[in-house]
Amino acid sequence: MNASTYEPGTLYGIGTGPGDPELMTLKAVRHLRDCPVVAYFTKRGGNGNAFRTASEHIGREQEKLPLVYPVTTEIPHGCPQYLDLIERFFDDSAAEVAGHLECGRSVAVLSEGDPFFYGSFMHVFLRLQGRFPSCVVPGVPAMLAGSALLPRPITMRDDVMTVIPGTLPDGDMLAALKGADAAVIMKVGRNLPRIRQALRALGLEERAWYIERASMAAEKLLPFIEAPEDAAPYFSMVLIPGHGERR
Ligand SMILES: C[S@@+](CC[C@H](N)C(=O)[O-])C[C@H]1O[C@@H](n2cnc3c(N)ncnc32)[C@H](O)[C@@H]1O
Repeated sequence: MNASTYEPGTLYGIGTGPGDPELMTLKAVRHLRDCPVVAYFTKRGGNGNAFRTASEHIGREQEKLPLVYPVTTEIPHGCPQYLDLIERFFDDSAAEVAGHLECGRSVAVLSEGDPFFYGSFMHVFLRLQGRFPSCVVPGVPAMLAGSALLPRPITMRDDVMTVIPGTLPDGDMLAALKGADAAVIMKVGRNLPRIRQALRALGLEERAWYIERASMAAEKLLPFIEAPEDAAPYFSMVLIPGHGERR
């Protein structure tokens, strides 16, 4: 769909960027303000980072639709019980959003960073695709807010940059790192000790940077060797800038 005009009964995926409200795009703000319903993913007892980031642009008259995760870190993500719960949660979330779209009310689903870059929005989108018009408004991904803090560019010349979820099994993580000139490791959290092992095995620890809450008030940039020993917060990542020389 042409993303320049607002359309009723449309599913909007709104990228809210990494946390600093000033990093929201003008288009994200405009479409968000136009939608009568604002949906956002959150854990129990909170509003979620995307909602916080966009809050100054959400009016009292807009209906709020919190989509509350049934679990976050209580159950290991690979186990069948978690997969079952989370699939049902996304089915229910898509059904709630569809209820509004069927009545012609457009829904803005907020997504931290970019909606199609590991964003929960995609699970609603994939379930409703083809049934309703949709429009994805890209957002600044967190990794670029992180790389903006580095003392050197994340990629130069022909560097190949690889994005690695920290949830990958050890062997896959090592293989992905080996083929990369520059790398971004997301979803760090409890995986930090395994990430450290992989970096150490490849002699990359000294080149790596640890970043917490990029573009938020408590933003932190540390050489990786000064990163926390064990678990890292949810909003953390590891960046390895390239050299500009293919290995
Ligand atoms: C499910 S992914 C969402 C990525 C998001 N859609 C994007 O475009 O950046 C969540 C992971 O992104 C990273 N992340 C998101 N926002 C961050 C921030 N402000 N600072 C550091 N890491 C962040 C963390 O690694 C976190 O575990």
